Amino acid sequence: MRLDKYISQNTDFSRKDVKRLLRSGAVTVDGETVSDPALHINEDQRVELEGAPLTGGGPRYFMLNKPEGYVCATKDSEHPTVIDLINEPNSDRLQIAGRLDIDTTGLVLITDDGQWNHAVTSPRRGCKKRYYVTTDDDIGPDTIRHFEKGVYLDSEKRRTLPAELELLYANEARLTIREGKYHQVKRMFAAMGNRVDSLHREAVGSIVLDEDLAPGDYRPLTDEEVQSVYNVS
Ligand code: URA
Repeated sequence: MRLDKYISQNTDFSRKDVKRLLRSGAVTVDGETVSDPALHINEDQRVELEGAPLTGGGPRYFMLNKPEGYVCATKDSEHPTVIDLINEPNSDRLQIAGRLDIDTTGLVLITDDGQWNHAVTSPRRGCKKRYYVTTDDDIGPDTIRHFEKGVYLDSEKRRTLPAELELLYANEARLTIREGKYHQVKRMFAAMGNRVDSLHREAVGSIVLDEDLAPGDYRPLTDEEVQSVYNVS
């Protein structure tokens, strides 16, 4: 690939900016300063911009601790988006692997790998999502049984898939579901005559929200976390 194309693909610089950087001597390839934008480079060469290595075009995977008030969209005219929180080159290429509502907090997975996104979100793969939920009214023991059996959501023909509800307190619980229907958790509690007061996603499959991430923070996934979505039972 041409050097100027490689740099602009892996940074936020335009091809015009890249030409200026090359002229200024800011770019090295394998330790040598280069200025030719048409120079052909291959995968295993090390390109540095002002001494910082460029990462190359491999796929990227992040976990973000979504704060309230952010939308899971790449662009929105009214609200800040979770992508606005990701300070990475070419952030416009990133996709959200499983959306949360604006008032839901917690684990959001973000990637530019479409296949991986599909493995996380495809209903056929049934990747588990675990939520911590608080409700307006106490959660009756019958709710556990109903969720286990599946409930009918408004305007849906089929019951929800069996879900595990662990009661933590009278109106506090952990719910694990295998689907990701629109507003699913809120609608499941609504089907029981209750209302979700707060909702926080703790885990997707075996990827657990890192407790060191403050709301709004993110980190790359480890290789093990990335691979884990392909090992779903
Ligand atoms: N279920 C909901 O109702 N909202 C979310 O944000 C996620 C799951």
